[in-house]
Amino acid sequence: MRRHHKLEENVWEKLMNSTLNEEHGSNVILGLDFGTSNSCAALWYTTKNRVKVVRDGNSRRIIPSTVNYDADGQQVVGDPGLNHMSCVKRIMGLRWEDVTAEVLADLPFETSETEGGGIGLHIPNGQVVSCEEVAATIIQYLKGNAEMWLAKHIRNCRVRRTEAITEKPYIDKCVITVPAHFDECSREATRKAASLAGFTQVVTLIESTAAAMAYGLFVAGTKTVCVFDMGGGTTDVTFMTIDNGCFETLSTSGSAHLGGEDIDKALVSFVLEKAGIDVQTGQKSFDLHYQKLRLRCKAAKETLSASTSTVVQVQAQSGMYKNSEITILRSDLDQVIAPLVQRARDVVVAALDSCSPKISPSDVEEVVLVGGSSKVPAIRAMLYELFGKELCASVNAEESVATGAAIRGAILGGVDTGLLSDVMMMDAIPHSIGLEADDGRFEVLLAKNTKIPGQATKRFMLENARQKGVTVEVFEGEDTCARNNRFVTRNDILLPELSLKDEAAGLTRYVDVTFKVTEGGFLTVEAKDPDDTGAPTTSLLVLGLLVFLLFAMYISFKLLFHDPLTSTTAYM
Ligand SMILES: Nc1ncnc2c1ncn2[C@@H]1O[C@H](COP(=O)(O)OP(=O)(O)OP(=O)(O)O)[C@@H](O)[C@H]1O
Ligand SMILES: [Mg+2]
Repeated sequence: MRRHHKLEENVWEKLMNSTLNEEHGSNVILGLDFGTSNSCAALWYTTKNRVKVVRDGNSRRIIPSTVNYDADGQQVVGDPGLNHMSCVKRIMGLRWEDVTAEVLADLPFETSETEGGGIGLHIPNGQVVSCEEVAATIIQYLKGNAEMWLAKHIRNCRVRRTEAITEKPYIDKCVITVPAHFDECSREATRKAASLAGFTQVVTLIESTAAAMAYGLFVAGTKTVCVFDMGGGTTDVTFMTIDNGCFETLSTSGSAHLGGEDIDKALVSFVLEKAGIDVQTGQKSFDLHYQKLRLRCKAAKETLSASTSTVVQVQAQSGMYKNSEITILRSDLDQVIAPLVQRARDVVVAALDSCSPKISPSDVEEVVLVGGSSKVPAIRAMLYELFGKELCASVNAEESVATGAAIRGAILGGVDTGLLSDVMMMDAIPHSIGLEADDGRFEVLLAKNTKIPGQATKRFMLENARQKGVTVEVFEGEDTCARNNRFVTRNDILLPELSLKDEAAGLTRYVDVTFKVTEGGFLTVEAKDPDDTGAPTTSLLVLGLLVFLLFAMYISFKLLFHDPLTSTTAYM
């Protein structure tokens, strides 16, 4: 017991040093897993050399990602009831035109298009809020719990030292995880939510990569692993080698709409069909009932991971149908979700195929299961068949992503422990980076899964040798047509002036454009005249002003060559 106190005092001595100065909590970087169904926060517990998962006031480590707004606009986070804001992660950063009617119909709340073309979520008091605002409420809750925990421990130390506590510690930095498939807009929306929640410095990290860190920190020797993360709304797969604390991503891939929510929906349809009920979508009177049934089907699905059969109650509702009890066998569930299992398999195979260097399933030494939906037996059977080996379920399926984020936070925060000081992370770019060619093709400079740090240079002929600069438009994606990929940002780069002699000679002029992603995740664009021996004109693109080290931010470019007049105007 004494030893425990002594250890704690050491930990909080360090933390207190930071909280005693003006930047309260400045040494602590919170690891956040903002999930479709559940969220979790964790931080590094220095002296114990491990991660501490933060509990809320109800002692919960896993918090349902829901916000319940009452008629006065009061907010309650983490209450998985009916008519609550949930699953907002599924539409994070999307525009109204991006989402199908089916996706919107699945959300348990009303939506409408905002003036700016975004998605407005209707809360009971008549107000319309954004996804970022709902997400911020959840993130703020996690932040508050962590600060509370920190305050408690600092208080314990100070009471012993008879010091008064005047202020609550303030944690203003976080590593927040995002799915591999998130494009820059969704990542930016996530960062915005974190900033609304009070974080001034935000790093994003890919969820399955985070889970790999949680798994691999204590792995000795060299191992090739596949981290399979299937949660409530998304499926992410990362192949990685772990070599005594050195993590190298071989490939990463994911699906935006593949998770437990989809399984629940399929099961609800099965139950309704068995009960002989034909539900027209959009029947408002049925909605609450539908939500209740969905919660019951979710519970039934979870039961079927351990049992071979279960019963779902269907309750009568205003003449639409009568009470019934539907028995569901595990084999029924397997059949119902077979298409979803196939899609999950496709994600794994796509990630496997894009590994660099190439690997085969037999090269994978460990398949690490992450996310609640990885407990579904049909999913496990698919992975077992694909890799031909026992699966690793030793990591905590729901906490490992937050755990990995906390580890990353500790490394970024410079926590000085032997365990973390040797950890090295080499991530890969999840989306291709490229330029639009004259004919509209997407010309890739940095291909998907290029290792970070990485760089590529391509030479372009200027339309006009006298032009003073180039305008770079940033896209990301995999479509062969640049315009079909996601536009991210644009940037203007000045070129060195031509000498009067060269100008008079009317030379054909080229420019070398280099995209470079640094270890910290910063992306730079360099444009250089190949004949010019001076330094290249560099434009540092830091998307999201809040980012201090952008770990999983990858962007792509489109290059436009302006005539001198337009470019001059653009640069003023
Ligand atoms: N024993 C179980 N069997 C089957 N499914 C389960 C089980 N336990 C949890 N789940 C499902 O896992 C999902 C939640 O998993 P998790 O908390 O990992 O998701 P998330 O992190 O919120 O989502 P995402 O990562 O997709 O954003 C839910 O759909 C839940 O029903
Ligand atoms: Mg998750």
